[in-house]
Amino acid sequence: MNIERLSTGIKKLDNILGGGIPKGFFIAVVGEPGCGKTILCIHFIYEGLRNNEKAIYVTTEESRESIVIQASQFNMNFDKYIKNGKLVIIDALLKARGDPYSLDELDPEKLVNKIIQVKKALGYGHTRLVIDSLSAFWLDKPAMARKYSYFLKKILYQWGFTVFATSQYAITTSEAFGFGIEHIADGIIRFRKIVRRGILKRYILVEKMRHSSHDLRMYEIDIVDGKGLVIKRATQYRSEDIILPESVKKRIIEASKKISDEIP
Ligand SMILES: Nc1ncnc2c1ncn2[C@@H]1O[C@H](COP(=O)(O)OP(=O)(O)O)[C@@H](O)[C@H]1O
Ligand SMILES: [Mg+2]
Repeated sequence: MNIERLSTGIKKLDNILGGGIPKGFFIAVVGEPGCGKTILCIHFIYEGLRNNEKAIYVTTEESRESIVIQASQFNMNFDKYIKNGKLVIIDALLKARGDPYSLDELDPEKLVNKIIQVKKALGYGHTRLVIDSLSAFWLDKPAMARKYSYFLKKILYQWGFTVFATSQYAITTSEAFGFGIEHIADGIIRFRKIVRRGILKRYILVEKMRHSSHDLRMYEIDIVDGKGLVIKRATQYRSEDIILPESVKKRIIEASKKISDEIP
């Protein structure tokens, strides 16, 4: 069966994904702060708009204006699409705004109602949806993460969205927050960052993508003014290399050597 795939707006990433994101999927975009999650979401939204799709961007970490400014730095004119009714940015950060496109409470049910209300206003046609971040909706009740994310996925699927939902916590720092989204996602795109020789380096890894023969390698990325997220080369590192400090790694290698030496 032929699966329809959507471009992320980044050609090399589409190739890594095995041709793009299958339409209707719910994708978890996870990683620590400052890795490029929001910027990836901006690319994804803009690519839809360019192709005459509709788009909804829910922002909990930054204001609506901040998202528009960030997009403009990569030559993506979000204002134009807001004005012609193709894009709605739901602002869940500035609670005092009180306009119809803001959310005054980080409540999963209110979020769903707002998204559906906006979808109805946008009208027919495929809609890309970003929820950045979704984990913000259960910050004060992490035990509910799985239940809420399952509820959200089910309803959003019925409305025919293709969804990018971010989680600002890496699984290494807090399992409780990250886990809810990843558990129900059709795909997981993970960002990582390290400081190597005094320079911040960022990486992207497609950790899961249903119905896709995707690249399993981790790629170094750059965020470039005027351009956005750029995929560089596949790394030689294994994911363990990125997580563990040298001294710990050494000890593990020594220990495993010792074990294999002991096996007759
Ligand atoms: N115009 C720009 N040119 C180059 N790098 C930028 C630009 N704007 C933002 N960045 C980089 O992107 C980072 C923010 O990425 P973002 O996608 O917001 O991270 P997060 O994973 O927290 O959502 C900044 O810390 C900065 O390093
Ligand atoms: Mg962000």
